[in-house]
Amino acid sequence: MRSRVFSGIQPTGVIHLGNYLGAIKSWVDLQYKHDSFFCIVDYHAITVPYDPADMRQRIFDAAVANIAAGLDPDVATIFVQSHVPEHTELTWLLNSITPMGWLGRMTQFKEKSEQFKENVNVGLFDYPVLQAADILLYKAEVIPVGEDQVQHIELTRDIARKFNSTFGDTFPEPKALLSPAARIMALNDPAKKMSKTLPGSYIGISDLPAEIRDKMMKAVTDAGPTPGQEMSPGTANLFTLLKEFSAPETVRRFQEEYDSGAIRYSELKSVLADDIVAALAPFREKREELLGKPVVVKNILRQGADRARLYARETLLEVKGKMGLL
Ligand code: TRP
Repeated sequence: MRSRVFSGIQPTGVIHLGNYLGAIKSWVDLQYKHDSFFCIVDYHAITVPYDPADMRQRIFDAAVANIAAGLDPDVATIFVQSHVPEHTELTWLLNSITPMGWLGRMTQFKEKSEQFKENVNVGLFDYPVLQAADILLYKAEVIPVGEDQVQHIELTRDIARKFNSTFGDTFPEPKALLSPAARIMALNDPAKKMSKTLPGSYIGISDLPAEIRDKMMKAVTDAGPTPGQEMSPGTANLFTLLKEFSAPETVRRFQEEYDSGAIRYSELKSVLADDIVAALAPFREKREELLGKPVVVKNILRQGADRARLYARETLLEVKGKMGLL
């Protein structure tokens, strides 16, 4: 049997090249090899301060952007977490077997409670149990995530093991699948990760060609090549992007020019910007099309939730039965 894939999508609005290369691109490949579930995690998103007036749009935009970038609703199940109430129901059941100490140790909780001192709410503390419920509800085994989520997947394994030993074998233990892609750094500050909160640092997958060229031309490189020594972080970042978006001959040519000291960074940037523009064009077109048909997107999400619920209900019945609740 094909092992099942599950991942959660934060409804953040902008998707940049770092998100695309680090996550979505590998999900697009995985969906053809596994029974895949991609869930827009709105119940996770409300554990930090947010504007309710924006949330509906953020959820919709996340669906549009991910479908435009290649998640295929005919192949994978794409849905919104709050549309499937079994996620919160299983969370409550799993809460009853999760020691508070396990949650207090979570790095993301510690960081976010530092960042949002004014609002360290119970939901933020319980966030990892909701994430475990997301995964275990579908008995998913392969969880493609970034490095920062590995601890949450380990916790999910601990919860699964505890449930199995307490109430009888029920859940497989899921494994994190780390993206093979290199980290993409901020164009204007290559010591930092590309991020939507750093203006000028990122290229969004729906940026217009002129914006892409403009941000690329302003990317930080160095005064000139240093063949034999390590490449500067900014230049290395451009080569990483070149390997992702340009033809192998192009990569080879610029590498040779770098090695011989003949490279002109303005030319590298210009070619790279053109290749990124070309690669993103189909995403932009698909996005425009979907933005013009909100009903189609809503139907995709409704059908996704209907399909997800078939599995979710079955697991929940099994769990409640084992826990003596049915
Ligand atoms: N916490 C994850 C993140 O911030 C998102 C997420 C929620 C998730 N539920 C999940 C990821 C289940 C993998 C599996 O990126």
